[in-house]
Amino acid sequence: MKLLGLSGSVTVSSKTWSAIHLAVEAAGQSAPQWETEVVHLGDYDTVLCDGRNPSDYVGETKELIDKVEEADALIIGTPVYRASLTGALKNLFDLIPNDSLKGKAIGFIATGGSYHHYLVIDHQLVPLAHYFRAHVVPGGVYAHNEHFSNKKLTAPDVRERLIKLGESVVELSSRLEHRPLETSQPSISR
Ligand SMILES: Cc1cc2nc3c(=O)[nH]c(=O)nc-3n(C[C@H](O)[C@H](O)[C@H](O)COP(=O)(O)O)c2cc1C
Repeated sequence: MKLLGLSGSVTVSSKTWSAIHLAVEAAGQSAPQWETEVVHLGDYDTVLCDGRNPSDYVGETKELIDKVEEADALIIGTPVYRASLTGALKNLFDLIPNDSLKGKAIGFIATGGSYHHYLVIDHQLVPLAHYFRAHVVPGGVYAHNEHFSNKKLTAPDVRERLIKLGESVVELSSRLEHRPLETSQPSISR
């Protein structure tokens, strides 16, 4: 079983990456049989989605799409950019096939400059998960600048919530055992 951490930040030494890493590390400790990886979108040279069939992308764009498809569960995080997810992460959601997250457990993390946009998980990320027919793990974590010190997440209560989120993602995924869902994807032509 594979757990993929996905950071929507392309910034070097990203706060979002460090928060995701903490959650993924906790997941790996609670379920050592899981293979874990955290991907930083800034490490991939991806093209913008142009509407072609996802299998027709090549190079690092295809590599990234494949990683998402191969994951059994995901912890996805984004910095808040202009009250929303980053363009880089939205582009990845546009690139992946419609059924690539179907039935998978997903935990969400967002980081922002302040508490101003703490609803970004509920308003921006959860609807995307519902589009893809994924299971959103309760307890998404929002962290802001005051929770970090030197880009590392130091606030004890937020660290606890990230650890719990990581553990919950693998727990829910294991219980789901990839049973197919009854609901089908919306049929949208490219
Ligand atoms: C282009 C840009 C737009 C941003 N917009 C917001 C915003 O709307 N609300 C907010 O709370 N923080 C905003 N921020 C602050 C970042 O969300 C915050 O610093 C985040 O933790 C950065 O994460 P990273 O270190 O992983 O890149 C913005 C930062 C940038 C660079």
